[in-house]
Amino acid sequence: MPSLPKLSTVITWFLYSIPIYIFVLDPLLRGFFPGLLPASDSDSEPRSNKDIFDFDDAAAIGPGLNLTDDSFISPEDGVPFDCPNAGGYRVHLLSRAPLIMYIENFISETEANHLLEVSIPNYKPSILYDGHTERIDPTKRLSDRALLDRDNTVRCLEDRARAFQGWRPNLYIERMWAQRYNTSGHYRHHYDWTGSLARGGDRLN
Ligand SMILES: *[C@@H]1O[C@H](CO)[C@@H](O)[C@H](O)[C@H]1NC(C)=O
Ligand SMILES: *[C@@H]1O[C@H](CO)[C@@H](O)[C@H](O)[C@H]1NC(C)=O
Repeated sequence: MPSLPKLSTVITWFLYSIPIYIFVLDPLLRGFFPGLLPASDSDSEPRSNKDIFDFDDAAAIGPGLNLTDDSFISPEDGVPFDCPNAGGYRVHLLSRAPLIMYIENFISETEANHLLEVSIPNYKPSILYDGHTERIDPTKRLSDRALLDRDNTVRCLEDRARAFQGWRPNLYIERMWAQRYNTSGHYRHHYDWTGSLARGGDRLN
């Protein structure tokens, strides 16, 4: 019988599954299987291969997205890294609508333990963000989060997430955070969309 993964590892997998879905799987599936998901716009014409593979005019960078500002996204800045602890992952497609994928071992045990360790001194209460202001409201969201430095391990994860989505241009990896839920922790139903792609750095989902 396979041994069960540690709870902390499961939580970390879950944490990373959310941005991976938003930034990687949903755009990827929409690109390659346009009929699979509900259309995100009113265009019901089937897309040609040209539309799928010609990204140049498909996703102009929003005017508000500052590609050198690494407080929000992780720009590709050419800093070298290597990933000796990568485990190799397996993808399980659990449901197509809604899209639910489980990426087994996306983060290896060694990498997960590293993330847990470096996060401990940096946890702060998680915030709610409405597109303009940040606030703490434990009735809606109760957890702690820690911004992860872009060290070698984090760069490996960013690279893995980009590679998984096929290096599609004009999609950026948001800075990665560790998230800690205590037994009373929770996050009420919500969506990660603040209303405008043009504002820059908003999420596609
Ligand atoms: C973009 O971000 C960089 C780094 O924070 C900053 O120096 C620069 O002024 C920003 N540019 C604009 C147009 O806001
Ligand atoms: C979670 O537990 C840690 C360790 O006891 C504590 O420092 C932190 O404040 C707790 N966070 C929340 C949101 O309850």
